Amino acid sequence: MECLDVDALAAVLSPARAGAMEDVDLHLDACSQCRELVAAFVRASDPSSDASAPTLMESTLPSAPRAAHAEELRVGQLLADRYALERVVGEGGMGVVWAARDTHSGGRVAIKTLKKETVELCRRVEREAYVARAISHPNVVEVRAVLPLASGAPALVMDLLEGRSLAAELAVRGRLDPVDACAVLSPVVSAVRAAHAKGFVHRDLKPQNVFLATADDADRPVVMLLDFGLARAVARDDAAADKLTQTGAVLGTPHYMAPEQLFGEADIDARADVWSLGAIAYECLTGARPWSGKSYAQLVKAATRGAPAPLASHGRDVPAPLAAIVDAMLAADRASRPRLAEVHAILDAVWRGEAA
Ligand SMILES: Nc1ncnc2c1ncn2[C@@H]1O[C@H](COP(=O)(O)OP(=O)(O)O)[C@@H](O)[C@H]1O
Ligand SMILES: [Mg+2]
Repeated sequence: MECLDVDALAAVLSPARAGAMEDVDLHLDACSQCRELVAAFVRASDPSSDASAPTLMESTLPSAPRAAHAEELRVGQLLADRYALERVVGEGGMGVVWAARDTHSGGRVAIKTLKKETVELCRRVEREAYVARAISHPNVVEVRAVLPLASGAPALVMDLLEGRSLAAELAVRGRLDPVDACAVLSPVVSAVRAAHAKGFVHRDLKPQNVFLATADDADRPVVMLLDFGLARAVARDDAAADKLTQTGAVLGTPHYMAPEQLFGEADIDARADVWSLGAIAYECLTGARPWSGKSYAQLVKAATRGAPAPLASHGRDVPAPLAAIVDAMLAADRASRPRLAEVHAILDAVWRGEAA
């Protein structure tokens, strides 16, 4: 659909908004100008009253339409004359991930296929493969190949990880003690630093994209960062890259998006990842997300009011330097967020039991 006109905007902002407005939500997923417009209206409305909070984008949580293609894939099917699909092991906003047997080597792999085969999403998959290979880090899942499917859409062949996502872990455990939290966060920060060093911003850091992989020879899970589908080279600014950037920027949960991403700003840099890592750390340590809003608009509203409640206000026993740096990572003003080298040093100190 076209950009929102006055009537569409009024409908989106109406507290009585009826059901899912799929066209509008899909358009908002893709158009940062319209998100900015909605955000501006929300900001202009009474910021102290939640009663008027529109339910915009509530449907973005798990609702991306399943494509014909994803439903056509079935257990036992052979992809590219080589990979026999076994079972679905995960799903995100964009893809469905299968465990498959490699009939050439006998080994097992993970295959990520798209739920919906648009040109933009196909490019995201190719981009994801390219970025993961460029980073090549022990805590970034290895992409072995990009398969062309019969439909022409690409699918990623990855190492198959056993275990569960950090989101699943938090759903079971609620929160982690500081040492366990740092054992998870430090490798994630290490992977994100490697990405930044190569000039990529991940832009979609959240517990669903962090995987705790069990390994036979390790007593702790190996932490793997997934899903560079939204990653972007910082310096690159052509129109095509921008389109790629906007599409799906609000797919999935926006709770881990930096304020500048929530507001739909165009110039997103590595400091947005610092905010998202801060949000993940905050949730690991307190069991609560920085902002509790249930819809995109409520989060925008919360973000305009200032910083999240200080970590210490949750009353958990968290070493002071760790609490302080997580609060600083969540600064609304990105210029005041710390550098990841500093964050990494504190996480490692707590992990080693050196920070009181
Ligand atoms: N290599 C893998 N091995 C096992 N499970 C995986 C693998 N990659 C992804 N998953 C699972 O699938 C889910 C979705 O994968 P992800 O790459 O984040 O897709 P999306 O781009 O749709 O968000 C993840 O949260 C994880 O649980
Ligand atoms: Mg994902």
